[in-house]
Amino acid sequence: MRKKIVAGNWKMNKTASETTELIDALKNQLNPSDVEVMIAPTFVNLQAAVKQTSDSHIEVIAQNMHQAQSGAYTGEIAADMLKDIGVQTVIIGHSERRAYFGETDAILAEKTKAALDNGLRVVFCFGEELADRQSEKHFELVASQLKNAFFALPSSDWNNIVLAYEPVRAIGTGETASPEQAQQIHYELRAFFASIDENIAQGLQILYGGSMNATNAEALLAQPDIDGGLIGGASLNADDFIKI
Ligand code: 13P
Repeated sequence: MRKKIVAGNWKMNKTASETTELIDALKNQLNPSDVEVMIAPTFVNLQAAVKQTSDSHIEVIAQNMHQAQSGAYTGEIAADMLKDIGVQTVIIGHSERRAYFGETDAILAEKTKAALDNGLRVVFCFGEELADRQSEKHFELVASQLKNAFFALPSSDWNNIVLAYEPVRAIGTGETASPEQAQQIHYELRAFFASIDENIAQGLQILYGGSMNATNAEALLAQPDIDGGLIGGASLNADDFIKI
C-alpha cells in the first residue's frame, strides 16, 4: 500500500519569522495521520525549520541542490550540506528551475544521481507545457524527461525517488488538470515503469502538482494512481494546507 504524501513547496516565500509562524500553526493543528507531510522552505530557513519540526511528523525538505560535491559554485548548495543539517529529501527538476535557471535533462540527471549517491531521497518534478498537450505529445514529452533523468541509474535507486507530475499550464494558474485527466496520466506513468519493473512501479509514489487546493484536493487524491500532492500557493496558508 502506497502512503500518500502532501508536500508544500514554499518556493521563494516566507521570511524567517514567517516560516516559524507557519510551522507553529501547522504543528498546532495537524493531527498525526498516515499521510507523509513535507514542507520545503527556502534554503536560509531550512536549518531552523528542521529544528522546529524535530518533535513533529512534518519532514522539512529542500527545493533544490547543486550536482557537484563542493567547489567554486557561488551561491549554490551541495547535497552533504543538506544532509548535515538533517534534510533527507530534495526536490529536483521543478519546472521553474527548468524554465528560469536553464536546468536541462542532462543537469537534472546529474543532480538526481548526486542526491541519491549522498543518501537523499528525491522528489523529481516533470510535466508538459500546454503546447505539448494541445499537440497530444504530452506523454512522449514526460516519458523522455523521465528517461533522460533516470534510465542510467540502477532501478534499485528508484525506490528513493518520488515522482511529481506537474503540468506547467496548471502551476500557479488556478487551472488544475481534471481528476480524470490527472489519473489517466498517472496510470500511464505507472504502466510505463511497470514495463521495466512491476514491483518498483507498484511502490512508486506519484504526486500531482499544479493548483491543488483545499477545494479540489479531495477529488484528485481519491484517484487510485495519485499518491499525493506537491502544493505551491495553497501550502503558504496553514488552514488550506491542513485541509488538504
Ligand atoms: P501551485 O500549487 O501554486 O500551482 O504550484 C504548484 C507547484 O509548482 C508545486 O511545486
